[in-house]
Amino acid sequence: MSVIQACNVTKQYKIDNITINALSDINLEIEAGEFVAIKGPSGSGKSTLLHLLGCVDRPSSGDIFINHKNTSNLSAGELVRLRLMQIGFVFQQFYLLPALTAFENVELPMREAWLPKKERKKLTLDLLDSMGLVDRAKHMPSQLSGGEQQRVAIARALANNPAIIVADEPTGELDSANGERILEIFESINQKSGQTILVVSHDEYVTSRAHRIIHLKDGRIVE
Ligand SMILES: Nc1ncnc2c1ncn2[C@@H]1O[C@H](COP(=O)(O)OP(=O)(O)OP(=O)(O)O)[C@@H](O)[C@H]1O
Ligand SMILES: [Mg+2]
Repeated sequence: MSVIQACNVTKQYKIDNITINALSDINLEIEAGEFVAIKGPSGSGKSTLLHLLGCVDRPSSGDIFINHKNTSNLSAGELVRLRLMQIGFVFQQFYLLPALTAFENVELPMREAWLPKKERKKLTLDLLDSMGLVDRAKHMPSQLSGGEQQRVAIARALANNPAIIVADEPTGELDSANGERILEIFESINQKSGQTILVVSHDEYVTSRAHRIIHLKDGRIVE
């Protein structure tokens, strides 16, 4: 059964009078429990595609279905709810909230989902621990290295145990040992609990583990 489906999706960005066709004629289907990698040159539309599939942004035309539900019909509020409970997103630029500590950043999605405080605390510490970051819990994002911020962003994406994890270059800032640790976490949640993983990466050790690779070029799927 497909968890994510894109039908005739396009995305244009308009700046002044100039239109950029970031994505054209995208059709794809991702099955529950798949681990899919997206590859392509810089500017080929990878982040744009992830944002649409992860319901962070909407297509200019075409439809995105999540669990067979057409997201075009959802209000902004319904989309936020869907994302909160079903999709964990790791942004290429992390987007940690600068005024919150590492702990509070990871805890936030669980707070928004009204998880009781005691449970939140345990889960947040477990997530930070799995990222090797317990001793950085009280640091503000500005007091963390790039790789540490990236791991906080990944921990935050795993809060609320989402069925779909969407990650944009999640190992871009990491050394090979930490990259390997992230991969093992992704693989284990993919294998043990069947979570669907969608990841943009240039790293061979990431893409070699994917079940399938989608190649993008100039905003289109190739091959
Ligand atoms: N908000 C925006 N407004 C205007 N143009 C944009 C916007 N976001 C992306 N673009 C353009 O759309 C195209 C695709 O961008 P996108 O970020 O999806 O590429 P990418 O494949 O993720 O690249 P990279 O590997 O460098 O991260 C690029 O030409 C980019 O300049
Ligand atoms: Mg990108």
